Amino acid sequence: MWENEEQARAEIKKLVGEYYHQFKEDKSVFKPGDRINYASRVFDEKEMQSLTDATLDFWLTTGRFCNEFEKNFGEWIGARFVHLVNSGSSANLLAFTALTAPELGKKQIRKGDEVITVACGFPTTINPILQYGAVPVFVDVTIPQYNIDVTKLEDAYTPGKTKAVMIAHTLGNPFNIKAVKEFCDKYDLWLVEDNCDALGSKYTMGETRFTGTWGDIGTSSFYPPHHMTMGEGGAVYTNDPLLSRLLLSFRDWGRDCVCPSGKDNLCGHRFDGDWSELPHGYDHKYVYSHFGYNIKVTDMQAAVGVEQLKKFPDFIKARKANWSYLKDNLKRLSDKLILPEPEQDSDPSWFGFLISVKPETGLNRNAVTRFIEDHNIQTRLLFSGNITRHPCFDQIRNTDAYRVVGSLDNSDFIVNNSFWVGVYPGMTKEKLDYMAEVISDALKSH
Ligand SMILES: Cc1ncc(COP(=O)(O)O)c(C=O)c1O
Repeated sequence: MWENEEQARAEIKKLVGEYYHQFKEDKSVFKPGDRINYASRVFDEKEMQSLTDATLDFWLTTGRFCNEFEKNFGEWIGARFVHLVNSGSSANLLAFTALTAPELGKKQIRKGDEVITVACGFPTTINPILQYGAVPVFVDVTIPQYNIDVTKLEDAYTPGKTKAVMIAHTLGNPFNIKAVKEFCDKYDLWLVEDNCDALGSKYTMGETRFTGTWGDIGTSSFYPPHHMTMGEGGAVYTNDPLLSRLLLSFRDWGRDCVCPSGKDNLCGHRFDGDWSELPHGYDHKYVYSHFGYNIKVTDMQAAVGVEQLKKFPDFIKARKANWSYLKDNLKRLSDKLILPEPEQDSDPSWFGFLISVKPETGLNRNAVTRFIEDHNIQTRLLFSGNITRHPCFDQIRNTDAYRVVGSLDNSDFIVNNSFWVGVYPGMTKEKLDYMAEVISDALKSH
């Protein structure tokens, strides 16, 4: 039927391209009242063709597309080592778990050690700390940045116990990296940047760098609403060779060997090592130096990511432009709404547009979001608001499994008054204008 595989692939991919244009391309023209999601996948035939390529390889597990993505992503963001995983939550789990490795000596995070984080956080930034038996220490955030209140850091520090700070850049807005990094350097603490909502954000401190590359480890999510997608997927990145090796081991079953899937004996010493209490020459591929997981990503997911990364600079531009447009449009409502502000020295690649209803206006946030949702515009709350108020905390409430430092007044304020709407690249001026109009009406009608 085909002369060779290359020709077959070219034809199949051409058909996939035609299929995309006929059935998947969004040709709709927005009319007020049409659905406006807070986020969605933005893709074209290129992602579908790349996915088809990976499918036809039928390699299935981590393979050539993963390698290509990790290399290109690392070059783009400025990280020496990038490891793909199956979600942003897995990325956080992996980043935290790597810091529990005994190889890290006195910096190893042990059970009972403390990790400073924010109460207004995403659950899976915090869960790995609790699951391991370390103690999250919750501090408040500032408004309208919605990031860690760095004036609380010193109070949160316990000599000999505090080992790390692990926090997200909220909805794309970088936290005060200068203050947090100086604090971490002063006490020799790890800094894990949950960069899941901030891919493409920049921060300037002497030099300008992408968020996720200032701390020891950065994490990303490629879940569909995020800055770029693989369906499910995430990444962990670092510039530290030891951390990189630990991340790889914990990601891949906890094994000692670093040979990639499908490769054996790259070091040439597969059968002549001595490992703990194992007999001499035990097959190194089956030697486990950590209590690890298997949280790898498939090559099909990475194949989508490879094409998304090429579009990424345009995605960032669109997110920034949409955010600024919406902010200009909503400024007239600033007597009723607290509008978001970028952190000083930052250039955010916004994940969303975060709004707080001023309580003194007598407006009720839930009534406002209900009105907006009734007009077919999707809204979201900020992370957990205050994670310590959630049912998952009932089982550990008032125990020493966690600590709270200072008041969580702003986190509680966010629980009651904040919400966000989308600025993803699928927005148009017409959609943003309509959103602003509906938000304005929501305030009038209550
Ligand atoms: C800040 C933050 N961290 C982690 C995650 C988890 O990512 P995933 O949904 O890919 O597990 C999210 C998800 O939205 C997030 O917003």
